[in-house]
Amino acid sequence: MKEQKTIQVKDKTFAISVPQDELKLQIKRIADQISHDYAGLQPIFLAVLNGSFIFAADLLREVDLPCEISFVKLASYQGTNTTGSIREIIGLNTDITGRPVIIVEDIIDTGLTMVHMLETLKGHNPASVDVCTLLLKPSKLQVELDVRYCCLEIPDDFVVGYGLDYDGFGRNTKDIYTLIQS
Ligand code: IMP
Ligand code: MG
Repeated sequence: MKEQKTIQVKDKTFAISVPQDELKLQIKRIADQISHDYAGLQPIFLAVLNGSFIFAADLLREVDLPCEISFVKLASYQGTNTTGSIREIIGLNTDITGRPVIIVEDIIDTGLTMVHMLETLKGHNPASVDVCTLLLKPSKLQVELDVRYCCLEIPDDFVVGYGLDYDGFGRNTKDIYTLIQS
């Protein structure tokens, strides 16, 4: 889609808030940091689907390291004998035991999804785990979370574009848009 000041996604209107040039700049900054911090290592990136697919593709092309990537999802279901839900990472087709892992997320809002991801990952015994997110809403965080790599902090507004969706739609834009009218 070509750049527009406002877009309509289903029943809602969104205005451009982070243009693609700014995204590009911030992603390069974070990729350079990762390349520096992980020099001599071979990290495996775990990109969390669906939202991070565009970010992960752009980030990886800026990372100057021998590395791997796997696209994963966190599935949770009710077990038969337990109270509370069981979580597992699906799509993880590489053994991450003893490997340095970098989780790639589109956005951290309350932080609860990331906490569950980190807890579940621990069971796979990686050497280390760092969190890399495109967007972070600091005012919404409900948990203590060490986000080592963050491209952009944004206000507590709903955003779409560049992989992020509203009800499944709106992922296919080059810029990020903020909800202006509900
Ligand atoms: P958390 O568990 O509250 O941090 O939620 C994280 C997930 O909620 C993200 O991975 C997104 O899928 C979704 N999400 C949170 N905020 C937004 C937003 O502004 N736009 C689109 N999706 C969002
Ligand atoms: Mg997500």
